Amino acid sequence: MPGKPTLIAPSILSADFADLKSALNLAETAGADWIHCDVMDGAFVPNITFGPFIVQAIARCTNLVIDTHLMIRDPDRYIEDFVKAGSHQVTVHQEACPHLHRTIQFIKGLGAKAGVSINPATPVSVLESILPDLDLVLLMSVNPGFGGQKFIPSSIGKIAKLDRMRREMNPGMLIAVDGGVTEENAAGLAAAGADSLVAGTAFFKASDPAAAARKIKGLE
Ligand code: DX5
Ligand code: ZN
Repeated sequence: MPGKPTLIAPSILSADFADLKSALNLAETAGADWIHCDVMDGAFVPNITFGPFIVQAIARCTNLVIDTHLMIRDPDRYIEDFVKAGSHQVTVHQEACPHLHRTIQFIKGLGAKAGVSINPATPVSVLESILPDLDLVLLMSVNPGFGGQKFIPSSIGKIAKLDRMRREMNPGMLIAVDGGVTEENAAGLAAAGADSLVAGTAFFKASDPAAAARKIKGLE
């Protein structure tokens, strides 16, 4: 298998919230790299999930990198709470941040890695000016709001385009892909330039999550 394995970020959204400890244990023993925490506010996206309190509980039970995806309006109001709760990486939506540069500097100033996410209808070109400042870009390959949706195929072209942009402007930046990732499409996403794959359904609902993780990482 050429190249290094793709990182996998199981999305806690698809886990059993009555037993988060076991879900985190499962992710760790399955070789997960990050644990992806989907925060939704019922305004930026139609669904509501959880806030810093749950992230803090997650942080107490795992050594995985806590990768917090804020699908919320006006994220600046809550970023500090999520970093204090234990988030190592905080990703905000470009569509929710009128002063994105300020928001990114704010995240970094708190000692966390800073990411920007874009929705399927948002072109990667909007990231051109901010790219040199980013630790990661989270490309949405479904419309955010729910787990278990179907991968939007045009996302592949966006990964490849973003990969070209980062090679030129910020080679250390990571490309993560979120939504509809499966054991079947993972290799194509990695080939297009993805470094990290978020997997909710494909990990937590798999009959053998450890085997699913190995396949998604390109290890078998
Ligand atoms: C969607 C979330 C995703 C979601 C992925 O709004 O941002 O992280 O949990 O779930 P799957 O892998 O089931 O598409
Ligand atoms: Zn997400």
